[in-house]
Amino acid sequence: MESFIIRGGARLKGKVEISGSKNSSLPIMAACLMAEGKTTLRGVPRLSDIDSMVKLLGDLGCHVYRHEAKESVGDGPTLNGPLDITVTEEKKFEASYEIVKTMRASICTMGPLLAKRKKAIVSIPGGCNIGDRPIDLHLRGMVKLGAEYHTQNGYAILEVKGRLKGCRMYLGGAQGPTVLGTINVMCAAALAEGETVLVGAACEPEVGDCANLLNKMGAKITGHGTPEIRIEGVEKLTGCEHRVIPDRIECGTFMIAAAITNGELELKHSNLDHLIAVVDRLEDVGVKVERQNGTIFCSSQRRINPVEMTTQPYPGFPTDLQAQLMALLCLGDGMSVITERVFPDRFTHVGELNRMGGRVRKEGSTAGVQGVKELQGAPVMASDLRASAALVLAALVAKGETKVDRVYHIDRGYEKIEQKLAAVGARIERVKER
Ligand code: EPU
Repeated sequence: MESFIIRGGARLKGKVEISGSKNSSLPIMAACLMAEGKTTLRGVPRLSDIDSMVKLLGDLGCHVYRHEAKESVGDGPTLNGPLDITVTEEKKFEASYEIVKTMRASICTMGPLLAKRKKAIVSIPGGCNIGDRPIDLHLRGMVKLGAEYHTQNGYAILEVKGRLKGCRMYLGGAQGPTVLGTINVMCAAALAEGETVLVGAACEPEVGDCANLLNKMGAKITGHGTPEIRIEGVEKLTGCEHRVIPDRIECGTFMIAAAITNGELELKHSNLDHLIAVVDRLEDVGVKVERQNGTIFCSSQRRINPVEMTTQPYPGFPTDLQAQLMALLCLGDGMSVITERVFPDRFTHVGELNRMGGRVRKEGSTAGVQGVKELQGAPVMASDLRASAALVLAALVAKGETKVDRVYHIDRGYEKIEQKLAAVGARIERVKER
């Protein structure tokens, strides 16, 4: 088991290369199951979730090859070589429990398998630390496209005779639209017969990125980025080259790192358009954010004003940055209010922040965050990916030493986080159990 030891108090200053988006890469890799020939993906980060998806695609008959060479192009992160994905055999249909339990995005193989191989057997993911996370909307979408569906021993088994059939459907649920559900159904509809219209679709940039990939493969998708996506089904998709979008959540996390350490960071290869609600809240907090081409300059104005923030589907403030903003507001000059509307139970970081001297009180899906003068270092436990990021941020400014346990959570979604932080002045080291 690995931990981070962080000594707080260093002001972060310098350049950070933002990686390609994890949440774009995972469904995009799954979509490659539908293509004939090789697809080359650029900007895919090196993360444990990506390794899990590589393994799953291997189990499903794909040859996946990561080029080691550094990329020479100047328009994206230079950390990694491209990833080639080629389907070499199509006899398997199953995303097993072993994989799905470690990486929920495995469910994104459902639509591609069903559309291309006419059958998908996908372990139904259970709840996780951030909530119940049902997949009813994914399944409803597949059934509307003509799939037969039943469950057996914890698996969803879907089949279709011939091609799926396009239709008009509503894809929203009680908590609003679903990101991976929209992508799953959009992928399936890309190879369906006739036109599909997804009403109540998710508008997240990751949905648009996958639609752009599919269009390069030969799909006919319009309206992505809006709540109504139109998909004219085609008979076949062909491999292509694609660069995934920058990781907006990693970028937002580093913006908050600059703010909380009273620092000054230059975030390379990022897209501020994807962070409009985050910039809106950070500016109210007192953070200065500027853009020049693909670089964001983010610096703190010393005082942290208290703010109100509600997480919402895109373009609202992302739930994936709620915990990190809370860490910042723990040091606010007064009382902030955070409401979680996407995953109402996503608050496991509250107890740990309070162990560091925070004064956060949760009531239902709302938390009152009373600012304190300082946070103190403490042993704390990471419980999910973004909660872990919040603890690292709090530790960067806390007095003394913080040990963040179970950093495997953070390795799922932040590429080389300790190297990136150390390069801009953080005192952070990764240690084996001590
Ligand atoms: N929901 C349903 N039924 C469904 C699907 C979702 O009721 O069939 C509910 C969920 O329980 C939740 C809401 O709808 O209340 C939105 O969930 P969504 O389906 O959009 O989440 P997701 O697609 O499973 C992705 C990201 C999450 C991110 C959410 C929301 C990936 C791999 N995961 O999950 O990212 O929080 O969208 O933006 O893209 C993370 O990166 O840390 C992470 C959890």
